[in-house]
Amino acid sequence: VTTLAELATPALVLERGKLEANGARMRARLEGSGVRLRQHVKTSKSIEVARLAADAAHAPITVSTLAEAEHFFAHGFDDVLYAVGLVPGKFARVLALARAGCRVQVLVDGPEMAAAFVAAARAASVRVPVVIEIDTDDHRAGLAPESKLLLGTAAVLAENGLLGGVLTHAGNSYTSRDAAELRAWSRRERAGVLRAAERLREAGHAVPLVSLGSTPTVLAGESLAGVSEVRVGVYVFFDLVMAGLGVCALEDVALSVLASVIGHQAEKGWLVTDAGWMALSRDRGTQGQALDHGYGRVCDLDGHALEDLVVFDANQEHGLVAARSGPRLDVRRYPVGTLLRILPNHACATAAQHAAYHVVRGGRTVEARWERLRGW
Ligand SMILES: Cc1ncc(COP(=O)(O)O)c(C=O)c1O
Repeated sequence: VTTLAELATPALVLERGKLEANGARMRARLEGSGVRLRQHVKTSKSIEVARLAADAAHAPITVSTLAEAEHFFAHGFDDVLYAVGLVPGKFARVLALARAGCRVQVLVDGPEMAAAFVAAARAASVRVPVVIEIDTDDHRAGLAPESKLLLGTAAVLAENGLLGGVLTHAGNSYTSRDAAELRAWSRRERAGVLRAAERLREAGHAVPLVSLGSTPTVLAGESLAGVSEVRVGVYVFFDLVMAGLGVCALEDVALSVLASVIGHQAEKGWLVTDAGWMALSRDRGTQGQALDHGYGRVCDLDGHALEDLVVFDANQEHGLVAARSGPRLDVRRYPVGTLLRILPNHACATAAQHAAYHVVRGGRTVEARWERLRGW
């Protein structure tokens, strides 16, 4: 048995109890709504985390890479939506998954890729439903709900019996400044994807899938009527950005980075730690929020927030900790060797810096080490 104190720092720590509670909260949110939960496993990239969050051995998942699709399928997850736009160089791996029995769906945002994929699927004699990406927040990819290209793209797919449906992700919800703004993103996300589905149905198409989601829009949204599934990822861990948006409390954040104090700048009131941006990521997601946590909020070894301490700057392997406000920190309270736990701005980004989770259940005993998938 290992304890946190025996781990080499920096190390990624996962509170199993919080993960289970976060998973249960999302399932409760959807209970009785008839809306399916399709966890986005890009956050955890871990079979164990996905199973615990879903409270099931294999539930429908969203993936952001084909490596995730292949890894999760190999572990029994056979209902997989690959929610990043395709290129022809990836067709063969998608078709191989389908041939192996995976119910895989893919995403396009225009008629050209739709036609290219349909031709490849036909040549391979496999059936892979294709979902059309809808842009509801001017954030990145997708067709506007009123786009002229929407019907043309759908026609190419429907002709071949491969029109899977429509999907949107209002990632801009992360920039909301208050609850009203977040609700507005949520309404806009749902209205946009429903409008796209309505146009397709008016044109005579069946639209089996109407998929939306990000953690904040699903948790803050009022209605999910007309939606068939939600795709949510970061809710399994939550993070400082989600706390800043008001969709979770600081105490709900299940992930932290264990770090050692390696030195002091006593006159400046700084602690130097061994968790720099390689361990925390460079994500500064709370920068635009009311409470900026720098590169992370500092907690003690048991996960309780310490004073007003944040990682205010980070080099590759050094983190600099100081009080966010108030008097200069008396560094003698944190001698060299003190272990700290740092809550991440963006759980997906911080987890991605590590090879594995060290799992604790409230205490300091590390009861498991769960590997994370890396690469594409
Ligand atoms: C296409 C897509 N769907 C769903 C999600 C899940 O969002 P969240 O992590 O906020 O739950 C993401 C996250 O980036 C995404 O890119």
